Amino acid sequence: MSKNVLVLPGDGIGPEIVTEARKVLELVNERHGMGLEINEALVGGAAIDATGVPLPEETLAAAKAADAILLGAVGGPKWDTNPDFAIRPEKGLLGIRSQLGLFGNLRPAILYPQLAHASTLKPEVVSGLDILIVRELTGGIYFGQPRGVREKEGGIREGFNTYVYDENEIRRIGRVAFEAARARDKRLCSVDKANVLEVTVLWREIMEELSKEYPDVELSHMYVDNAAMQLVRAPKQFDVMVTGNMFGDILSDAAAMLTGSIGMLPSASLDENGKGMYEPCHGSAPDIAGEGKANPLATILSVAMMLRYSLNEGEAADQIEAAVSKVLDQGLRTGDIMSEGMRQVSTAEMGDAVVAALNA
Ligand code: NAI
Ligand code: MG
Repeated sequence: MSKNVLVLPGDGIGPEIVTEARKVLELVNERHGMGLEINEALVGGAAIDATGVPLPEETLAAAKAADAILLGAVGGPKWDTNPDFAIRPEKGLLGIRSQLGLFGNLRPAILYPQLAHASTLKPEVVSGLDILIVRELTGGIYFGQPRGVREKEGGIREGFNTYVYDENEIRRIGRVAFEAARARDKRLCSVDKANVLEVTVLWREIMEELSKEYPDVELSHMYVDNAAMQLVRAPKQFDVMVTGNMFGDILSDAAAMLTGSIGMLPSASLDENGKGMYEPCHGSAPDIAGEGKANPLATILSVAMMLRYSLNEGEAADQIEAAVSKVLDQGLRTGDIMSEGMRQVSTAEMGDAVVAALNA
């Protein structure tokens, strides 16, 4: 049976970068005889404008039916003033993540040698950086109940959230991380705060238990405050890191910025069966939307992740990553990664260059 990919361009630069990523996907689809069926649907602000809601039933149904989803980005000032949070563009994204149970967030932070100057860290600290952060995305303190703001005795207000993970939630994200580590350098660092938080004492216990199933992967543990420090001090000590939703939110942004270039970073959000949504780490960049300035490489690299993790087409994924490296070697740069002596190109020129590199 042919597999199907749902493309959700979204808002701002979303449609521009997705157009380029689609060129790449269509090329490898044909070349490798994948027989992928590629459909498009509305999400975010684009969906609000057309239907009144950020995640129309039709889009959700198509997302559920798809084998993988490619998303551009959602949101923008046009919709940010809506006082009804239920019809904000971001709800479209969160809706897909939760409705599809996309609990496993994979965020690689790779520093391309051609862009070494973009990092704020010294070249010797970051050159060759290639780490993967695995973040739990649908549980933990961002979702725990009860939560809210209430009044205590004496009219004093207090805000409260609940940090909770059950062992099954820990086990399934642990498996994603061990599998990812197995496919890479076989080193996994689990990040917790087991000296203070009981949830993460259980987290540590489950990771230890899982490690018996993965004797080839070397497991270590680190407290989150130290992990933040080590990421900046000596990031290359890490291969794969696994952590909960909130710690992962913070650490993955920090790790991303070690590479200095938001326009280069892809991500994946996976369910238990390997189905996933793939998107660049950046947002809809309304400040440059419609100007052909956006860097499409994060989205193109998201296509590579999609091929590798959801479509079992690792060879095509490798080829796309090599093609991206090649266009950087050729000195082509969009504005966000531009530096002296390089040639500045538009969104479409960058996409075409990747296609040309794949065809070469
Ligand atoms: P942003 O990532 O959209 O932009 C931050 C800065 O990076 C801007 O100066 C932008 O021009 C630049 N930038 C981002 N992607 C780029 C690319 N591919 N090429 C070149 N430059 C790029 O973050 P910001 O400004 O905080 O948010 C803008 C909108 O995007 C908001 O409505 C926000 O809610 C939404 N957003 C959506 C996300 C998603 O769809 N997953 C994630 C983050 C933000
Ligand atoms: Mg974040």
